[in-house]
Amino acid sequence: MKGYHIITFGCQMNAHDSEKIAGLLELNGYVESIEPKDSELIIINTCSIRKKAEDKFFSQLGRYKKLKTKKKDLKIVVTGCIAQQEGERIIKRAPYVDFVIGPQNIHLVGNLDTNQRILTSENIDISTLSIDAKRNIQTKALINIMYGCNNFCSYCVVPYTRGREKSRASNEIIEEIKGLTLNGYKEFTLLGQNVNSYKSDINFVELLKKIEDIEDVERIRFMTSHPKDLSDELIKAFKDFSKLCEHIHLPLQSGSNKILFLMNRKYTYEEYLKKIYKLREYVPDISITTDIITGFPSETEEDHLLTLKALQEIQFDGIFSFKYSLRPGTKSAFYEDNVDINTKNRRLNEINQLQDEITDKKNELLKNNKLEILIEGPSDKPNFKLMGRTRGNKIVYLNSHNNSTSYGNIVNVIIKHTHRHSLEAEYIEDSNSHTRL
Ligand code: 5AD
Ligand code: SF4
Repeated sequence: MKGYHIITFGCQMNAHDSEKIAGLLELNGYVESIEPKDSELIIINTCSIRKKAEDKFFSQLGRYKKLKTKKKDLKIVVTGCIAQQEGERIIKRAPYVDFVIGPQNIHLVGNLDTNQRILTSENIDISTLSIDAKRNIQTKALINIMYGCNNFCSYCVVPYTRGREKSRASNEIIEEIKGLTLNGYKEFTLLGQNVNSYKSDINFVELLKKIEDIEDVERIRFMTSHPKDLSDELIKAFKDFSKLCEHIHLPLQSGSNKILFLMNRKYTYEEYLKKIYKLREYVPDISITTDIITGFPSETEEDHLLTLKALQEIQFDGIFSFKYSLRPGTKSAFYEDNVDINTKNRRLNEINQLQDEITDKKNELLKNNKLEILIEGPSDKPNFKLMGRTRGNKIVYLNSHNNSTSYGNIVNVIIKHTHRHSLEAEYIEDSNSHTRL
């Protein structure tokens, strides 16, 4: 039997693409190898969102060259966003790579033909991407609802690597979710670069309602919503749909209107803030996370202070913060990358320090609260048996291990200690009434 090994970089879209590639390979008789050296096929699923991710890929690639000289029948396949963007250049730079396959062509992985080594066509029928995924976690599943992005934020490669927005047919999504509930899955994260532009025979909120109505679905999440399109209807859904978890990831990027304009984000800070107020008006305890880019071209100290002010004002539950990274082919690549690296580092530190204090304080407020968690599996932290997540998407560790705390169960716990990135809790026997948070 032939072995395969997949190395995944990047976002949840890539994580899910890797699950689909694994599903397809197993259908074609491959088995997963823990070690790359034991496999006949190595897939490197790449990310090009920032230069650092791209550099990491090229440095890893060198390692597999050595393996290939030892093992002549080994095939190396590069998939993901770098594959789409760089295409043939990858093979020119690393001739030992056998195939380069873009994210819209992963369905071809099971049937590779050496006559065509670069598979990056953009004119695909998206139903070819509805592939049975091999999922490693048995409680929660990622589900594609749309592919691509039409927003063209000036710094971002995604519209170039994943193409224009295309929505999956709602009945296909519903069937996939129903099938997974039969296998015990409880939580579903709907994936799209901008889920609020989902449009098939129904819109995104109508799709949520259909999923809410599937009996064995316990929790629904989605990633990501663009602030400019976050509708009142969707905000209201957080209150009205009992299975939609009270967490939203809403990328702000900057607190300065000048920078937001240059980023082509199509909203002002004030408009963003209004949506936050509205979300909290409907669901006061909603957990809100965001993305911030620091050091965008022409960002002054004043712009940076506006971002710090925004963090202070909004009090996010958590942020992902990045130094601006120039991406060839994007609109902002025409702007001079003129914030020097020391300033970018300092600004990033200031952003992270402030947010760390806010996250610590927000988590401390959860101490002694009774919360509902979905048990996901064994703890990766010593001294704890289980790991679960709150509806607000916070990681919770706990010890009790009995029939009620089997993987996939939803139980109530009491929060005993809080940390920046996790909470520690005790199981409560009376788990009948779940507390939403
Ligand atoms: N430089 C830095 N960060 C970036 N992101 C996207 N493109 C870039 C870039 N060129 C960040 C944004 C986005 C997240 C997924 O990655 O914050 O929301
Ligand atoms: Fe990139 Fe903007 Fe699309 Fe997000 S919305 S994927 S940041 S272009």
